[in-house]
Amino acid sequence: MSMPDSSVTLDTLHRMAREGGDRFAGLTAYDATFTRVLDACGVEFILVGDSLGMVIQGHPNTQPVTMDDMVYHTQCVARSIQRALLISDLPYMSCCDVPMAQANAMRLVQEGGAQVVKLEASQDQVEIVRALSDQGTPVCAHLGLRLQSLTKLTGIRRHGRTSEEADELQETALALEQAGADLLLVECVVDNLAAEITEQAGIPVIGIGSGAACDGQILVLYDLLGLTDPAPKHARSFMNSGRGVADAVRAYVEAVHSGSFP
Ligand code: KIV
Repeated sequence: MSMPDSSVTLDTLHRMAREGGDRFAGLTAYDATFTRVLDACGVEFILVGDSLGMVIQGHPNTQPVTMDDMVYHTQCVARSIQRALLISDLPYMSCCDVPMAQANAMRLVQEGGAQVVKLEASQDQVEIVRALSDQGTPVCAHLGLRLQSLTKLTGIRRHGRTSEEADELQETALALEQAGADLLLVECVVDNLAAEITEQAGIPVIGIGSGAACDGQILVLYDLLGLTDPAPKHARSFMNSGRGVADAVRAYVEAVHSGSFP
């Protein structure tokens, strides 16, 4: 397992993606203690995801999560992170227009301590990503399955199965990169399309439930710990060794770096 000595930055992720060696590994965290453990185990980035609405707050989805919730949990993580890059989610209805998105992104950075903000993005968010990038806020654009926009009609499913949807996702990925996104995250995108997006992108692509070809991977921590019931299809519990959380996290980081997961 290769471990850079100094803190992980966006440049580190860009270099790892460019060199095509080890993939980089990320996990979600929402509190100081898990952050300390994950950081010490060598994850390259930690995401304060709005998944906290489900795994911390017990809601059925992410929509009730507020900006205040995100700032609070980002602060908890920022207090104990030392090495990994800290990414934090802009929650539901927090970027309805450019001024709102800019103000809320600044809150995550200034009050929370985030180094990168993530937003769920379609073509409609391209101008918002441009505005955030113009104000100097590093952005991760999240494509494919976007829980914030989930309705009964568009349930949890893999994205990019039809050629129309695949073309749209590819065009959106390109438009978001051209607008200034620093990272892309593809969730539940069919494997070959995620591989094409990764191949074509000039920025690192993080995958979840999108196959093994992405430059990095992310899992929700509680899925890795085998605590989610029912677990999403793409998840794997790394707790089988029975030797505790730190061993499970190390096994995950090693598996991502070497390409044996997903
Ligand atoms: O909120 C979250 O945890 C996420 C991951 C599933 C990528 O967005």
